[in-house]
Amino acid sequence: MAEVKAGLQDVVIAASEICSIDGAKGILTYRGYDIHDLAAHSSFEEVVYLLWNGRLPKRAELAELEKQLTENRAIPAELIDLLKRLPPPQHPMETLRTAVSALSLYDPEAEDMSMEANRRKALRLTAQMGTLVAAFGRIREGKESVTPDPNLNSAANFLYMLKGQAPNAEDARWFDVALILHADHSFNASTFAARVTASTLSDLHSAITSALGTLKGPLHGGANEQVMKMLLAVQTEAKAEDHVRGLLAQKKKVMGFGHRVYHTEDPRATVLRKMSEDLGRRTGQPKWFQMSRRIEDLMIREKRINANVDFYSASAYYVLGIPVDLYPLIFAVSRISGWTAHVLEQYANNRLIRPLAEYTGPRGQKYVPIDRR
Ligand code: COA
Repeated sequence: MAEVKAGLQDVVIAASEICSIDGAKGILTYRGYDIHDLAAHSSFEEVVYLLWNGRLPKRAELAELEKQLTENRAIPAELIDLLKRLPPPQHPMETLRTAVSALSLYDPEAEDMSMEANRRKALRLTAQMGTLVAAFGRIREGKESVTPDPNLNSAANFLYMLKGQAPNAEDARWFDVALILHADHSFNASTFAARVTASTLSDLHSAITSALGTLKGPLHGGANEQVMKMLLAVQTEAKAEDHVRGLLAQKKKVMGFGHRVYHTEDPRATVLRKMSEDLGRRTGQPKWFQMSRRIEDLMIREKRINANVDFYSASAYYVLGIPVDLYPLIFAVSRISGWTAHVLEQYANNRLIRPLAEYTGPRGQKYVPIDRR
């Protein structure tokens, strides 16, 4: 019997030049650049260039990409119309998944599989993702969608389109950092799903739709939403400990903790902890950070399980005024850059991804006609 690697744990399925993770040391790099360096010095747009091109841009190259991203933010009026007509989803990810799939119907190059067309589609989708999420966020509240502001970068423009008011410089910079931290994470479940779809030589919009369906699950992109729901339900530091102890006693997972690859602190959590603390203090809402800290201490003390990327992003997004059920969609606003980088890499050196299963069902069954069963 062949050995089954449940959940593909520790299985290396392809070579990739985009992102590396050292799970033992807690090091994450994009194209060889440490995530801490990028978070401290870079911008989301610069990271997008890096992921797509394999090197940091020169000043003029960055300016050109920023211009192209800005120029491609608009979504077709028909799609705004669609967002208004679709029934209220049970979860907003349903709408985003549907809308991204629908975008291909308005993309004149949807079925053009040349590398140049795929790069242009990657650019359009990356520019449009934030517009879609913000438009949905407003339309469901009965408000008009906000036209993108070409004078704002991706991070500030997203907050502006969502809230109808430009963010202050500190909020905008922290959100930019959050986008940098979420941009890529190697062969995580949604990226792998995108690559599987791309490996059939299906189109880029289909690959991203697969990724969105995969990101939606609570074990992946849905975790930070669950973290915030827990913090809101619990409300006080004292109750937070009891609540988490209760979950552990029932052998339930505490959302925002644990990771398949990191056996030490997720380096993104290190930055997001600071973000949550700083934003909490500056907005006069330190309570969510303090509760989170208490839960983290307990999880490390009792279970030796570290916080992951989803733990502190929850309280940080909350004080930025982002609706809780949009958190997984925010993940997509950033991760679209990594997904598209991986899809382009897959197309450039494609081999159909098609693993095997160890069959454990019955064998040699004799067909019995239906009226004799
Ligand atoms: N809370 C409590 N216990 C946890 C845990 C958590 N968040 N994450 C892992 N564990 C425990 C498991 O119960 C298991 O214990 P056991 O061996 O005694 O049964 C052990 O750690 C291994 O967990 P497992 O779920 O098998 O690891 P995995 O590699 O398959 O899962 C995750 C990784 C991320 C899916 C898992 O840690 C998880 O479900 N976390 C919560 C969801 C989350 O935050 N997802 C976002 C990831 S960035």
